[in-house]
Amino acid sequence: MNREEKKRILPRHIAIIMDGNGRWAKKRSLPRTAGHIAGAKTFKTIARYCNKIGLEYLTVYAFSTENWKRPKEEVEGIMDLLRDYLKDAENFKDENIRVRFIGDRTPLAEDIKALMVKNEEGSENATGLNLNIAINYGGRDEITHAVKKIINSGISAEDITEQTISDNLYTAGCPDPDFIIRPSGEYRLSNYLIWQSAYSEYWFSDILWPDFKPKHLEKAIEDYNQRNRRFGGI
Ligand code: IPE
Ligand code: IPE
Ligand code: MG
Repeated sequence: MNREEKKRILPRHIAIIMDGNGRWAKKRSLPRTAGHIAGAKTFKTIARYCNKIGLEYLTVYAFSTENWKRPKEEVEGIMDLLRDYLKDAENFKDENIRVRFIGDRTPLAEDIKALMVKNEEGSENATGLNLNIAINYGGRDEITHAVKKIINSGISAEDITEQTISDNLYTAGCPDPDFIIRPSGEYRLSNYLIWQSAYSEYWFSDILWPDFKPKHLEKAIEDYNQRNRRFGGI
């Protein structure tokens, strides 16, 4: 190996906006739900791959606070897929992946909420990848929720720091994402991790999420290694 050749550095925390399922299905003249089914498969492959390469944190956007605007059948299809995923207790059981859900669970079906708790508790001692799945997640909703929690805690205004806010988000205790990946050709955050992404690096691609493969993730990480993060310094 060339002495100049450096080993790639893995970001500590990667966040992915799993977008493009609908367009993937449309291209194949399939119902949108077929795209979500394919997207769910990609999610499992990518989460397993991240665990295998030793990533510490992966946060995926699965359903936003705005996604309720979609036709009832599509929302129900996504909720059914989520239910199937959660019931599949074998999912990540032997893989040492710790699962957590971020977002407002209040409007979710009772059985889904119970399954979420079961998945979190069942994996809480895992020491591999920390996998955060964002369901009914919105960054503005998260900040609003944090403000309410902070006020209710009775803390005085002078004592509130940036850390106080971070500690009251759904992602409390989790480092900010170093790297945010959005496939599907859109160049926006769509209300994802808006507080946490202040100094994240971004990677966009036209690939539709169901077509996203570990090789694309590797390419993204390779590009990440070329970035020069300064955090306002020099
Ligand atoms: C992402 O794929 C999945 C969710 C938002 C639930 P989309 O369903 O947004 O796919 P496009 O953007 O319509 O292709
Ligand atoms: C973002 O994708 C949400 C998820 C991937 C879960 P959307 O498809 O909802 O985003 P917009 O509407 O194109 O911004
Ligand atoms: Mg979309």
